[in-house]
Order: sequence, then C-alpha cells, then structure tokens
Amino acid sequence: MSTLITNIGELVTNAPQAGPRPGGGTGSRAGQPPGAGSFAAIADAALVIEGGQVAWTGPAARAPAADEAVDAGGRAVLPGFVDSHAHLVFAGERGAEFAARMAGQPYRAGGIRTTVAATRNATDDQLRANLRRLAAELLAQGTTTFECKSGYGLTTADEQRSVALAAEVTPEVTYLGAHVVPPEFDGDPAGYVALVCGEMLTECAPHARWVDVFCEQGAFGPDEAAAILAAGAAAGLQARVHANQLGPGPGVQVAVAAGAASADHCTYLSDADVDALASSGTVATLLPGVEFSTRQPYPDALRLLAAGATVAIATDCNPGSCFTSSMALCIALAVREMRMTTEQAVWAATAGGARALRRADVGHLGAGARADLVMLDAPSHTYLAYRPGVPLTTAVWQAGHLVSGDRPAASASRGRGRGR
Ligand code: NIG
Ligand code: FE
Repeated sequence: MSTLITNIGELVTNAPQAGPRPGGGTGSRAGQPPGAGSFAAIADAALVIEGGQVAWTGPAARAPAADEAVDAGGRAVLPGFVDSHAHLVFAGERGAEFAARMAGQPYRAGGIRTTVAATRNATDDQLRANLRRLAAELLAQGTTTFECKSGYGLTTADEQRSVALAAEVTPEVTYLGAHVVPPEFDGDPAGYVALVCGEMLTECAPHARWVDVFCEQGAFGPDEAAAILAAGAAAGLQARVHANQLGPGPGVQVAVAAGAASADHCTYLSDADVDALASSGTVATLLPGVEFSTRQPYPDALRLLAAGATVAIATDCNPGSCFTSSMALCIALAVREMRMTTEQAVWAATAGGARALRRADVGHLGAGARADLVMLDAPSHTYLAYRPGVPLTTAVWQAGHLVSGDRPAASASRGRGRGR
C-alpha cells in the first residue's frame, strides 16, 4: 500500500538531495545562513509513503503514481518534531511555584523535591494516566519522537517504575536517578551516588537507553557526574547531561569527556565549553521554554552555531522549570528570543533532536526515513514562529499511519501527482 501526499506548499525534508535542482523544486539551501545544518525544503512538492517509510520526495509535477493520494491543499509538511528532552513521569503540579517566580522569586533546583514527594505518593495507574495524557498531547502537536526521563522517584523502586512506565510510551527512555539528592540522603550525598551507581542502576538499566545526570551546584558535582555516567556506560546506557543551566560550571566538559550524545540547557557557557561542543559529537540541546518559564537569560544559540556546534531544540517538559509540550512554542522562542533563523530553529527541532538521540531514521524525510510527518495549516514552516501560540498542526503521521488530526481529502486508487 503506497500513499502519495501531493500539492504540498512546502515540504521540509532536511535531506541533502532536496536542494536546488535544475528545473526541479525550489530548495531553500542556497543562500541560507551558516549554521543552518542541512535544512532543506522543496516548494510545490509531493511525498510517497510505502511500508511506513518515505519512498520518494520531489516536485509534485514529477510525482509517481501510488495506491491512494492525499491532497495537502498547499499546506506545509515537515518531519515530525523530535523532542529529545522531557520529564513526563511525575505526579502533582507546581503552578504556585511558577506564579511566585513570575512575581519575582528565582527558580531553584530544590523545587524538584516537591514533585518527588508527589510522585512517590502516586499509584502506578495515576502516573501512567498522566504520562499517557502528556504523550498524547505531544503527538497531537506534531512530536513523533520523544525522550522521557525518570528522576522524580529517587528510590530504587520509584525510579524502576518510572523507567518501566516511560518504556510503555517511547523507546527513548532515560534513567535520571541523579536528578537531585533526595531528602533522606541529606547528610550522605556519597551514599546516594553509590545507590544511583549500584542497585538503582541495576534495576533501571533494562528499561532504559540513556543515563542522565543534573550536573549543577545544588545537584551533582563533576566527579559524581562522571562516576554516574561511567557506571551507566558499564550497564550499557549512553550518556546525556543536564549542563550549565543555572550558572557556569563543569557540566559541558563532563558531558564531552564522557562522549555524551547531548549536553542540555547550555545557558551559561565559557569559550572553552563552546569549543568543546563544536569539536565533539556532543549536541548542544537548548531548551528555550525553560528560560521563558524561569525568566533566565536565553542561551546563546548563534555563538554555538557560529562555532560549528550541532544545536537541537527541545521542550524539557516538566512540572517545574517548564511545563510546555509545544515544540512550536520552542521554535518561536528560538527565533524571536535567540535570533535563530526559522530554518535553523526548525532543523534544530527535527534533525537536531534526532542527532541528540543518535537516531538516523527520524528528523528528516529523505528516502528510507520513517514516515513521521506533521502537516501545518499554513503554507510554510515560517508560520511556526510567525503565528506563535496558534495551533497549526492539522495532521500527524507516525511510521506512515495517520495518528492525529483529520485526513485531508483523499482519492481511492492509483492517485497521481499534480501535473501528471
Ligand atoms: O531540566 N534541571 C533539572 N531538571 C529539570 C527541572 C525539573 C524541575 O524543576 O522539576 C530541568 O529544568
Ligand atoms: Fe530537564
């Protein structure tokens, strides 16, 4: 069964072959600013899905026949968003903490303990229901791949159930036993690190792909973080790090030294940190929703891009520092507040997120990619920032299946591309 989506106003592919071509689609690569990664788009385009994958992309006028056709009506189609940083296993909420921040209080990592207490008190079913509601919320907004961390349990049993629940909704599960030191270990942080590297890791590793640590004053220092990442690696988990969020610090260097897939936040970076990110395979994942929700300064995305670092954008959806699941909002903030171009921001929220998760099958729509698509009720990706706050997602496909929104007009058999 093959499906042709035709009459696409702008098809963002992020695929090298989608650049300007003689007599073909109008790619957006020519003249784009440096640091835009491999953003690429085709105007007046079509795409063929077969077997859950992208089989063909190109100008609609040259589209091959397929078993069925969908008319996009000139709308834009993008790769599904890849949200590489989210904390979705938790109970309770912290709206009052947010309101206090907006009234002048600073964000403090200690707020995490409020959610830890609520999470420990919740049943599995309560946690599962909240998690599934949030996962559905992400999908409906066009996020087709997302990472999900533990980190609000902080006992062996509560971390184990957190990663097990996360594994029910995504393969990108992160063990974050090292979120903060829980109250019962107040006088014994070394004892907690031993637990995180020992029994807790043993119980969590079978459910997780990643290990993460919050390397920050008030959370875990560089030696503790390095030890936790090394223990995770020995248990088969790849590293990612919460780094340099609340102030300058060693997080980025720890991440790069550990060969982490991603250093996340990157709000306060030294020149050496920027160099380290630019000369390593560690993606700089920026979370502008956090700065929006905590009134901190935004990270300097252009400095990272100018240095040659790979930049991703993610939501950090969590009940404390940033309770948005909207990649569109994060793109708008990246453009408006961090001065990324619309191309850079969309690339960072799709292909950049895929790199931060070391995934080659998502974040782009090259032939062979998983057919994860988001269709906007808009003619181009620019509208994600141009119409901030407006729900533009009209349809979402995951592995070729329509999973959210209304199916645009379809004709039943052997549909053909426009102009055929
Ligand atoms: O990524 N920085 C640490 N963890 C989360 C915040 C979690 C919370 O405040 O509950 C973050 O911002
Ligand atoms: Fe986080």
